[in-house]
Amino acid sequence: QIIEANGLMVLPGFIDSHVHFRDPGSTYKEDFLSGTQAALAGGVTTILDMPNTQPPTDSRAHLQEKMAIAAAKAVVDYGFYFGATDTNIEEAAALADQVAAMKLYMGSSTGSLLVTEFSPIYRHFSTFPLDKPIAVHAEDEQSLKYFGSQGSTEHNRTRPPLSAQIALSRALAIAEKTGRVLHIAHTTTQRELELIQEAKHKGVRVTCEVTPLHLFLNEEDQRRLGNFGKVNPPLRSKSDQAALWRYFDVIDTIGTDHAPHTKEEKNQPYEKAPSGMTGVQTMLPLLFNAAQEGRVELSEIIKRCVVNPARIFGLKNKGALEVGKDADIVLIDPRQEYEITNEQILSKCGWTPFAGTRVRGKLRQVFVRGTLAFAHDTYLAQPGSGAPLQYKI
Ligand code: DOR
Ligand code: ZN
Ligand code: ZN
Repeated sequence: QIIEANGLMVLPGFIDSHVHFRDPGSTYKEDFLSGTQAALAGGVTTILDMPNTQPPTDSRAHLQEKMAIAAAKAVVDYGFYFGATDTNIEEAAALADQVAAMKLYMGSSTGSLLVTEFSPIYRHFSTFPLDKPIAVHAEDEQSLKYFGSQGSTEHNRTRPPLSAQIALSRALAIAEKTGRVLHIAHTTTQRELELIQEAKHKGVRVTCEVTPLHLFLNEEDQRRLGNFGKVNPPLRSKSDQAALWRYFDVIDTIGTDHAPHTKEEKNQPYEKAPSGMTGVQTMLPLLFNAAQEGRVELSEIIKRCVVNPARIFGLKNKGALEVGKDADIVLIDPRQEYEITNEQILSKCGWTPFAGTRVRGKLRQVFVRGTLAFAHDTYLAQPGSGAPLQYKI
């Protein structure tokens, strides 16, 4: 087989450490095949799947069920988050070596996983292996109400109340006390990044994520997109959006929070419409384009989408193009420009908030562990060709 790469650029396959593939339970929104195909088409060769499925990934049996589903369907490499509950403290610790991390919801979101009391949070933080990340959804219930349930965009125009950082402050304090590794999912405001920066300076073992949604969209887009721009945490003000770019140094990973919901679900009245947007297929194109436009160095993107996720989650054999790593490779044509459309989106729900956006950089070929899996908009990968991740921590 001859690979023609004349004029193309080579990138490492991206790692999306934050996706919701809805399998099992809500496979009409997404399943492990459609989700990983969307990933592949977007140059993402490794994904970490969140536990808020039905049933949630919160026990040995539920984890095994999800592992079997992925083994049969996945076309990229995959790992899982274990979902914390008030009572599964010992079970989570016993299963730690089979998952990438724990996910602990300190504020409620899609699904039923939620741990808000101090005691179970503290016990999870001190019992789960200290070097293995606990990723937290650290949004306050109050700020969720303030933004999430307001039909009127009037409220979204205001900055969040200061109390929006209560969950984050608690997580940082308990991580400091227990000496554990903590990963903050989807940071969206300048204040959060200030608190995380301060904690890092103090020696707290904390890392944090930002999503392309919050990097590229703000509350003005929310008004334009209506329910399709509803997400938790919400799209923020222009000034918070700008702060994410200004504080880029503080940000460790970029993960998409790919959270598909159908058009029918999104078209319900605002209160009823679920939160979340797709993202796994558009992350690399949007970030590569931002680098092409000179907004950010490509190497800084690779750090946050490949090098750091591989390190933080202890992914064996994964990382940027270097000696000894898996040949997860993307070939991209940096000159070809195209428009992102809903028709291109391979997620079952078939829409993206970025429809209409023009980007430079067209994906030509994607290799997963050396095997050509996607070429010129055609799938070559067989369901089940994706492999489970192995962990160093
Ligand atoms: O908007 C969101 N959607 N935020 C979350 O935290 C969960 C996600 C989902 O699973 O739908
Ligand atoms: Zn979340
Ligand atoms: Zn999420």
